[in-house]
Amino acid sequence: MSEQTRRVVVGVSGASGSIYAKRLIEVLHEVYPPVEVHLIITDTAKAIAEHEHVIFPNFKENAVFRYAPDDLFAPVASGSFVHSGMVIIPCSMKTLSAVATGYASGLMTRAADVCLKERRPLVLVVRETPLSRVHMKNMLSAHDAGAVLLPASPPFYMNPDTILDLVDTIIARVLDILYINHDLNLRWTGVE
Ligand SMILES: Cc1cc2nc3c(=O)[nH]c(=O)nc-3n(C[C@H](O)[C@H](O)[C@H](O)COP(=O)(O)O)c2cc1C
Repeated sequence: MSEQTRRVVVGVSGASGSIYAKRLIEVLHEVYPPVEVHLIITDTAKAIAEHEHVIFPNFKENAVFRYAPDDLFAPVASGSFVHSGMVIIPCSMKTLSAVATGYASGLMTRAADVCLKERRPLVLVVRETPLSRVHMKNMLSAHDAGAVLLPASPPFYMNPDTILDLVDTIIARVLDILYINHDLNLRWTGVE
């Protein structure tokens, strides 16, 4: 990876909120310099995105590299493939449990496992409510192994007008964790 090229692995699992993934990919494409996206979408995530009327756009060549969820031969399955971090967005409780226990049976969970062993940023945008003890124990395990747990629970103190405003508050936090500059302009600056 040249110093100019930044890469992020984006995993989309079968939780509600595919719109977060779509928006993250768009913004990674729009920032300067653009970020190369390595994308893994589970079969359930595809079905849920369709149900939620979310269509992932086609990006120009070399902007988004897409892999089949069972392709364990893909570059992102190896620690020797250098990148700036991974985001699973949205992250289902099933995928969380696999990450928390190291059950790396598919490409997404293997890529996440690689992030933990290589000490690279791993952001889990978990989505479920209410949470069981099992979910919370898995979150704690993933956190203790090095992942950042970033629940898809957008704040309302920015006075959002649209769903996209809410989505962007989560995307801004994800980008901050990956040290990717953005101009989503969603920082709390105090009250006057
Ligand atoms: C419409 C729909 C919405 C779902 N939403 C969630 C959710 O928000 N969180 C969650 O943990 N599971 C959710 N599920 C269940 C997961 O899709 C299911 O556990 C699946 O096995 C996850 O697989 P994956 O993580 O490999 O994509 C949902 C399922 C459907 C059909």
